[in-house]
Amino acid sequence: MTEFVHVEQTSGVLTLTLKRPEKKNALTNAMYAALADGLERAENEESIRVVLFQGDGDSFTAGNDLADFSAAATRTANEERQSARFIRGLARATKPLVAAVQGNAVGVGTTMLLHCDLVFLADNAKLATPFVNLALVPEAASSLLLPLRVGYVRAYQMFALGEPIDAQTALAWGIANAVVPAEDLRSRARDAAEVLVTRPAGSLMHTKQLMRDAQAMTRQLDRELSIFSERLTSNEAKEAFQAFAERRKPNFANVEG
Ligand code: COA
Repeated sequence: MTEFVHVEQTSGVLTLTLKRPEKKNALTNAMYAALADGLERAENEESIRVVLFQGDGDSFTAGNDLADFSAAATRTANEERQSARFIRGLARATKPLVAAVQGNAVGVGTTMLLHCDLVFLADNAKLATPFVNLALVPEAASSLLLPLRVGYVRAYQMFALGEPIDAQTALAWGIANAVVPAEDLRSRARDAAEVLVTRPAGSLMHTKQLMRDAQAMTRQLDRELSIFSERLTSNEAKEAFQAFAERRKPNFANVEG
């Protein structure tokens, strides 16, 4: 349980709201656990037909909590992080996932959208996957899904340069369904979720399964997780996390990989 994720079920929609706006909804281990629990609950309860992700404040999420990343680096290798549980839950989800995204969506805040079936962006949304800036590698099967979605060179640009793309670019590249005024974001996403609730659940489930290659995603997740865990303890990553804490640019010039 964490106060930073609010879980609410109404009319067949399970809404998972990130509530840590003062930290731009950066995701701690406990928050990942709550999100993973939510996805598991949705799979197990027939009354839940759609899952809706949203975040309070001016950012959807700044991605993984960077202090938690540093802590994760010191945990035992076989202790699976809750983020991995959440990510596997996204890849396994059989029910529709809808996202309402405003402001910054960093790291997993963007890669999780590749697992969502409908994505609505506020006009101020900015999507970034700066894993390389942190000396890490892409996760959530995004090393497979992003190039498939937007093409290799755009995906490489997003991963290797780590610069955010704006909402209109994300729409043009096929990452989102619509860009809407920020004040309409929640109602648009909610309306779409409620339409999905009225569709035949079995048909939606099979449609989703036909469209997504679960085996390929699992294979890629395993590869990513193994390299990601190694990277977390690298000297490059230590420099990146320290630089964030000290609010300075990292300097990788003399750091061994
Ligand atoms: N982990 C931990 N804390 C974070 C965080 C993160 N990923 N992102 C933001 N925060 C915290 C900041 O440290 C700051 O805390 P403080 O007020 O106690 O100093 C607070 O949230 C506000 O962040 P700030 O950077 O001042 O907001 P901003 O509007 O200027 O910038 C971001 C927003 C998201 C662009 C910026 O915070 C950022 O780049 N965060 C890191 C994103 C990242 O690299 N995530 C990991 C991806 S793999």
